[in-house]
Parts: sequence; C-alpha cells; structure tokens
Amino acid sequence: MTKFVGILTAGGDSPGLNAAIRGVGKAALGVGMHIVGFHDGFRGLMNNRTMRLDSAVLSGILTVGGTILGTSRDKPHKMPVGDRVMDMTDVMVDTYKRHHLDALVCLGGGGTQKNAYRLLQKGLNIITLPKTIDNDVAMTDATFGFDTALSIATEAIDRLHSTAHSHHRIVVTEVMGHNTGWLALGSGIAGGADVILIPEIPFDVEVVAEAIRQRSRGGHRFSIVAVSEGAISKEVASAIQQAEAKKAPAENDEELNEAKAMLKDMVGQQRQSTWKLARQLEKLTGLESRVTILGHVQRGGTPSAVDRLLATQLGTACAELIEKDTFGVMVALQNGQAVPVPLEQVVGKRKSVPLDHPWVRSAREVGTCLGDTV
Ligand code: F6P
Repeated sequence: MTKFVGILTAGGDSPGLNAAIRGVGKAALGVGMHIVGFHDGFRGLMNNRTMRLDSAVLSGILTVGGTILGTSRDKPHKMPVGDRVMDMTDVMVDTYKRHHLDALVCLGGGGTQKNAYRLLQKGLNIITLPKTIDNDVAMTDATFGFDTALSIATEAIDRLHSTAHSHHRIVVTEVMGHNTGWLALGSGIAGGADVILIPEIPFDVEVVAEAIRQRSRGGHRFSIVAVSEGAISKEVASAIQQAEAKKAPAENDEELNEAKAMLKDMVGQQRQSTWKLARQLEKLTGLESRVTILGHVQRGGTPSAVDRLLATQLGTACAELIEKDTFGVMVALQNGQAVPVPLEQVVGKRKSVPLDHPWVRSAREVGTCLGDTV
C-alpha cells in the first residue's frame, strides 16, 4: 500500500537541511511513497500549509543552504496565535489525519526532538533527524550543519589573526553553540585561538588575562579569544549552583528540568557578555581589544561535503525505517552507522563537551588557555 509521509523542518536553520529533505524524499519516492512538506515548522502543520515534494522539487537542492520548507521556532503546545499563546497540538494531529499520513518526519535540534515527542505521545508515527550547528543533540555522534559552521568559524578565526597581529590587539570572537562549546572549541583549536572559553568550563577572567600577558611577555603582542556564546564566568556558575540548591523541589523530573533551564536562561541573560569580557581584558592587560560576533553567518550558505553526506545518509535511512514501520525514533549517527534511537532517550538531554574529551586535552597540550588554568 502506498505510504503518505509528511516532513517539516523546525528550529534554527542549518546547512544540510535541504540535503536531508532530498535524501528522505528521493529514497521515499523511489519506493512509491508520497511526500508532502509543511511550511515553517510546526506552524505550517497547524495551518495546513503544504508543498508537494515531487522529484522536480527535490532536484537541485543538495547544495542549497537553508531549508526550502522554511522553519520557525514555534512549539505545538505554546503557539502564539493572535495575542494569545495556545496549545495547538490537537490541531496538528487533525492536519496529520486529514492528509492520511503514515508518518511525519521532523528535522531539528534538541527543541524539535521534544516537540516531535509531544506529537508521538498523541499517537502519531513520528521519526526525526538531528540537525543543528551546535552539535548538542544527545545519542548521536554528529548533527548536520555542525561541520559547515565549524569551517566558517575556523576561517573567521584564521582571518582575525592578521588584523589582531598588525594592531597588537586582543580580538574576542563570539562563536555560536547555544549552551555547549563544540563549535567554539572545534573552531578555536582548528583556527589556533590562544584562549577558548566554553560553557562546560567556567572561566576566571584573571586567568585569561594572565595567559594573554604571558603571550605578550613572550613577544606575541596580540591574542585571539574564541568565546562560546554560552560561556560563563566562575562567579556566574557558582550563582547558578547556589540558586539551584535553594529551589523548592519540583513535583516531577520534567518540571525540575524546566525550572533549571529557566533559571539558567535568567542567569544567562546577565552572563558575562562578550563585550564586557573584552573590556575587562583590555583593562587587565593594557592591550587594545575588539569584539567580532560571528552570528548567523555561521549558519548560512552552502553545506560542506561532510554535512551533505551525513544528511543524505540519515535522510535515506529515515525512508528505509518508514518503509519498515519503525517510528518513535530519531535517526542517529553512531560509529558511522545510521541507527534508530527511541525518542525518549533523546528528549530533555543535551550532549555537552565532556571535560576529558580528546579536543579538550589537545587544546591544553598545544598551550591553549581554556579559562580555568593559564
Ligand atoms: O541552535 C542553533 C543556534 O544557531 C544557536 O547556536 C544560537 O544560539 C541560536 O540558534 C540562534 O537562534 P536564532 O536564529 O533564533 O537567533
């Protein structure tokens, strides 16, 4: 019997999304399935805004950045509708039924995995793919988008060297990554940053300043600091810990996790901003400082070969799983293989940089300051 499959992309866009849509779509069409795309993530599913994905539409998109479907950060259970925020999950379930779908494929990062899980709990046949430049989705060795962003951030750090060197300046470069340091650490190592600050290792500004002063004493009158957007100082880290310890115990794990996330966001807003860090370093070292926020340039443009390959591998594996009626899973990359992982093992978890990760060791061994020791 012909299968009808829906597909949507949600959360921040990332290079490789079109390659994944193409991978799922071509493999599914190849075995006689019908594919319909929903525009702008879960909002399009709510509004029943669709796009037929036939072979003509799927052709020529492998190398294109962004997502032909459009995306949004809308959540099914907290959807802004007019001036209200409503739970629209049941409306989405209706759209799924109206199209007689046999499966809905959701492409996204950690937030999308959670939102997709909500639809799974409503009885829909859900299957997800992990995409994000942050590389922070649990249970998968990689997410598509990361490799492209890594190259862009590395190139930026490369380029900042000559101008920092010419002007004898500190250049503080803010790298994306949400609350994990994969992108800053990877690009910082590959680009030869002198200091790399990541959320997993709270930093001491005095230690960072001393590392820069040591470089100056050694004749290097410039420094590149790669700072992850979620990096926090030791003071902020201990304020978070204390606040968490004081919090009244929540009724269940989910509530507790949400409260923790909210608390962290709150403190995050007052966190050591990149600009403040640059000013502090200028004062402490006597070297002029500049800030470069890499921002959304890291997510733009054509995907790297690695991301195209990964998105195609996971996308085609997704179609194979739909063919076998395997649902309620994320298609993960583990040891080079595309494997289905139950969604409940993915949601609510974040893949942070382990403190004993080989990249952390290597960074230290080449003399990079990670903000905790000079
Ligand atoms: O999750 C991907 C990401 O690019 C993060 O690195 C960053 O914090 C965030 O999205 C930016 O989101 P937005 O595009 O909504 O500004």
